[in-house]
Amino acid sequence: MINPKLQTAINSQINQEYAASYSYLQMSAYFEAENLDGFAHWMYLQHQEEQVHGYKLITYLHDRGGKLELESIAKPKLNFDSTLDAFKMALSYEQENTLAINNLYALAKELNDYATQSHLQWFIDEQVEEEKSIEDIITVLEKIGDDVTAMLYLNDKLAARQAEGASE
Ligand code: FEO
Repeated sequence: MINPKLQTAINSQINQEYAASYSYLQMSAYFEAENLDGFAHWMYLQHQEEQVHGYKLITYLHDRGGKLELESIAKPKLNFDSTLDAFKMALSYEQENTLAINNLYALAKELNDYATQSHLQWFIDEQVEEEKSIEDIITVLEKIGDDVTAMLYLNDKLAARQAEGASE
């Protein structure tokens, strides 16, 4: 049976994953409206990945005899000043998420819950990837500036993103 403090913290993390998923879905729609279908596709896959993360935690909670308690999700930001603005916001979500995962890990450590520490290791590694992929896009967007041709080239590149595990 999982420690009640960890159960609460995992439920909160589940909420954070689904909140990010919700925000990325809205960002995808923003790009769709801007006729940037590659960006929309990339962000839609990001939305799906967050759902997978949330569900991984739900499964784990159940495996440990814990109880899922879904919390409400705030309305996401609907509009952005630019593509760069949206990606900067996405990066801030990921940075918050990394912090939350780290705090969860610290709690598991404090409570000597080795199974939770082991399970969270996947999330810790995943966060490195998540932050890096968004930072890389931000770096390119900053170089692109107002260059429409370069922007459309990046849009095409992002359209090629595959769902995680799709090529395995
Ligand atoms: Fe589930 Fe993007 O962290």
